[in-house]
Amino acid sequence: MSGPPDFDAYYRADPDPWDVGGSFYEQRKRGVVLAGLRRARYASAWDPACGTGHLTADLAARCDRVVASDASATAAALAAERCSGLPVAVGHRALPDPPDEDGFAPDLVLLSEVFYYLSDPVRAATVALVDRLAAPAAELVAVHWDGAPDDAWLSGRGAQTELVAQLVARGWTQRIHHDDEEFLLDTVTRGAA
Ligand SMILES: C[S@@+](CC[C@H](N)C(=O)[O-])C[C@H]1O[C@@H](n2cnc3c(N)ncnc32)[C@H](O)[C@@H]1O
Repeated sequence: MSGPPDFDAYYRADPDPWDVGGSFYEQRKRGVVLAGLRRARYASAWDPACGTGHLTADLAARCDRVVASDASATAAALAAERCSGLPVAVGHRALPDPPDEDGFAPDLVLLSEVFYYLSDPVRAATVALVDRLAAPAAELVAVHWDGAPDDAWLSGRGAQTELVAQLVARGWTQRIHHDDEEFLLDTVTRGAA
């Protein structure tokens, strides 16, 4: 890999490049993510790579508000449209840039199919940002395809392992490891979450 893929070009060529809306893999993944959430409700969730916003919209049913963003302006616009009428704010922003809301302290963070697309320094900065922003009692859910995308820096397994280890090294606790046929899900919490 020499640089990040042009995600906006993917979305300009196809408004749903990973068939999030149609594939059973994605439908089932969303169901497993929601089933794995450890609390009935969250005050504020952060979904910093929301893509088309399908999972963002599902999360909104469990959260008072969701702050979502994506590195692709096209994806962010699609997610904003999908989530209109829901308590979701969608922006165009690339990790590791923080949300531009003062005092935002999410008690739920979702990293779905994005960590493996981040370069070494961006992954390190993203972990530091999560640790800095998250509420004292917070839960992070990471879910990635258990394969190695051609355009990614890491495999899904490598991404999950690194992310969990980095958060555990910062005092977080691993609560769930779900090793599915096609994807991996880990839940890591801090404090009383
Ligand atoms: C495979 S899609 C997953 C979308 C969504 N999380 C889901 O699970 O349906 C990967 C997404 O990550 C976004 N992305 C890649 N690098 C990013 C970055 N540095 N910051 C924010 N989003 C990024 C892409 O634009 C794309 O929408």
